[in-house]
Amino acid sequence: MAAQGLVLAIDQGTTSSRAIIFDASGRQVASAQRELQQFFPGDGWVEHDPEHIWSDTLAVCRDALQSARLGASAIAAIGITNQRETAVVWNRQTGRPVHKAIVWQDRRTAPLCRKLIADGLEDLVRERTGLVIDAYFAGTKVAWILENVEGARQAAERGELAFGTVDSFLLWRLTGGKVHATDATNASRTMLYDIARGRWDEDLLKALGVPASMLPEVKDSSTEFGTTEPSLFGAAIPITGMAGDQQAAVVGQACFTPGMLKSTYGTGCFALLNIGERFVTSRNRLLTTIAYRLNGRTTYALEGSIFIAGAAVQWVRDGLRAIDTAPESQAIALTVPDTGGVYLVPAFTGLGAPWWDPDARGAILGLTRASSTMHIVRAALEASCYQTHDLMAAMQDDLAAAGLDAAPQPLRVDGGMVANDFVCQYLADILDRPVERPAVIETTALGAAYLAGLAVGIYGSTDDIVRAWRLERRFGPGMEAETRRQRLAGWHDAVARVRSDAT
Ligand code: G3P
Repeated sequence: MAAQGLVLAIDQGTTSSRAIIFDASGRQVASAQRELQQFFPGDGWVEHDPEHIWSDTLAVCRDALQSARLGASAIAAIGITNQRETAVVWNRQTGRPVHKAIVWQDRRTAPLCRKLIADGLEDLVRERTGLVIDAYFAGTKVAWILENVEGARQAAERGELAFGTVDSFLLWRLTGGKVHATDATNASRTMLYDIARGRWDEDLLKALGVPASMLPEVKDSSTEFGTTEPSLFGAAIPITGMAGDQQAAVVGQACFTPGMLKSTYGTGCFALLNIGERFVTSRNRLLTTIAYRLNGRTTYALEGSIFIAGAAVQWVRDGLRAIDTAPESQAIALTVPDTGGVYLVPAFTGLGAPWWDPDARGAILGLTRASSTMHIVRAALEASCYQTHDLMAAMQDDLAAAGLDAAPQPLRVDGGMVANDFVCQYLADILDRPVERPAVIETTALGAAYLAGLAVGIYGSTDDIVRAWRLERRFGPGMEAETRRQRLAGWHDAVARVRSDAT
């Protein structure tokens, strides 16, 4: 590993934009953050202003450099990681977006998805993209913009418009409009990219009416993407790493061996299991996705996506006003020995994997006269653990079906919510497998820094990243098998009641 080298990681997330400067040992040198304004223009609609995404990103990069008293020339490389699937369409000539960014959480294209399913496209989508047909992915969002923004389709057909996920839009802006590219992990979330063959898929582009001229070039996750426009930071900085945030966390958690898995707890929860270089589809409605592409070689992952994890704790704080701060939830959960049979199913925006039920809605079940807000707070935390259990069970089954080594490995966890010891312990208890919390729980930005650092020689290979990973605490399972069985049975009964096909 090179003795020095600072990397600036940009982490453009759903609710905030951050810039963190890391040194070669993965230590944070400086950071800056801004909350991102959210727009909810309709039922189930979620938008961001791409101009805010850009101005916030630029500001946090400058703030981080300033707080570390560093000039641009001190930075060896930039790595970008981002909220995935969120779609931006902009004019190549003016650089201006033609519409607000349609965010991954946005459900407006559910009717279009239903039509694609009715047209019999489910198998094609799964075989080519590894995904299920759902409004979550970028493809139908682009189709919606082309269909609903006046003149957009004609402009796109004339080759005047560009599409990109947030990484691609930021790259375009950072390079002064010179580079229109993305990386393989972000491309794998569009529902337009054939992840087995590594190319945009003509049949899917046709089915969604998206002209190929709009698409970015797809590159490895660690490579030369371009250099920043010198006027932005005072000198040009190479941009050499790019990955969707959940895939960046796979790298930050050093999950480079098949069978290793990580789960990131932010707004939602995303569990990714490294399945190696063979593309395998799930028989349990999990997603197959690109974990990373290095030196032209693709590593795949099975992914379970849960839309609400930390957001359930936020709701308990802001909606229910049962707590003042999220960290308080731990002490409150521990004031009771269990939830007294209360379950909170946080299907606020439908259910993600493995149910994929956009019309399900949240519920609190099992209330009695003895129930209190303490039980509900605890139930909100436990819900993330139960949902993770369902993902792990599906993954284990898929692994066995694919003939891959099915021995369960410890789960590496990260994201803000895992600072909560109660959550980590309950997770280990319910999963009946060890849960490992690393020293750095903000692994998303760290992963982007690693990808950028790999390309400029700060790290010689992924082995250096494996060596840099540090365990902070390991939580061992300690729950009686019968208790676990009963709690899971209660959870599954609760989920069955909130599903849209429940009778
Ligand atoms: O797939 C959505 C995911 O990338 C969003 O992550 O951390 O921005 O909520 P986050």
